[in-house]
Amino acid sequence: MDDKRKLVIASGNPGKLRELSALLEPLGYELHAQSEFDVPEAEETGTTFVENAIIKARNAAAHTGLPAIADDSGIEVDALDGAPGVYSARFSGPGADDASNNTLLVEKLRDVPEQQRGARYRAVLVYMRHAADPSPIICEGSWEGRIILEPRGDNGFGYDPHFWLDSHGCTSAELDPAEKNRLSHRGQALRELVQRLQRKAA
Ligand code: IMP
Repeated sequence: MDDKRKLVIASGNPGKLRELSALLEPLGYELHAQSEFDVPEAEETGTTFVENAIIKARNAAAHTGLPAIADDSGIEVDALDGAPGVYSARFSGPGADDASNNTLLVEKLRDVPEQQRGARYRAVLVYMRHAADPSPIICEGSWEGRIILEPRGDNGFGYDPHFWLDSHGCTSAELDPAEKNRLSHRGQALRELVQRLQRKAA
């Protein structure tokens, strides 16, 4: 008897799928990328991480009839009133990429004193049993840092070369990937989700 519980991941990112599979398959879940079902990308119209994660999970569940997991993440900069926030990936406009986003971030913070450049990464992970689930599991993580103007380090992605960690005396792009997972907003949210699914299954 195949009693594996199928789950759809509302992301096309193979790295995210691998990371989630490694944690959830031991719990008896069988994970599928939404691309396997030709799920159309949901438009991220929310203004909060939690709204966008719910939009993506609901879209995947609605198109597949399976329980779904989605995430949303970004960086909030205090001196920019929390921007770029949910717009982190598209901060510098159409055609934005990591380099253009970081250039814009540095431009906006050039005249802000170092001690006022506080920032945090945030991640939200949502699990929905079905598209009309009124009480999704919502897990959050946050990671405090400070923006530096000169990039440092080659690991990670996105804003990592500018995300300075006072606790470690380096940027998140200078951490090895295992250490980043242990500390990061996404790692925190993931571990919480695993615990809550484990409890649910018990
Ligand atoms: P998404 O959640 O995959 O849509 O990512 C949102 C955006 O937030 C990314 O494109 C990055 O710009 C930024 N971001 C989220 N997490 C990280 C991180 O761990 N390091 C660097 N940038 C991140």
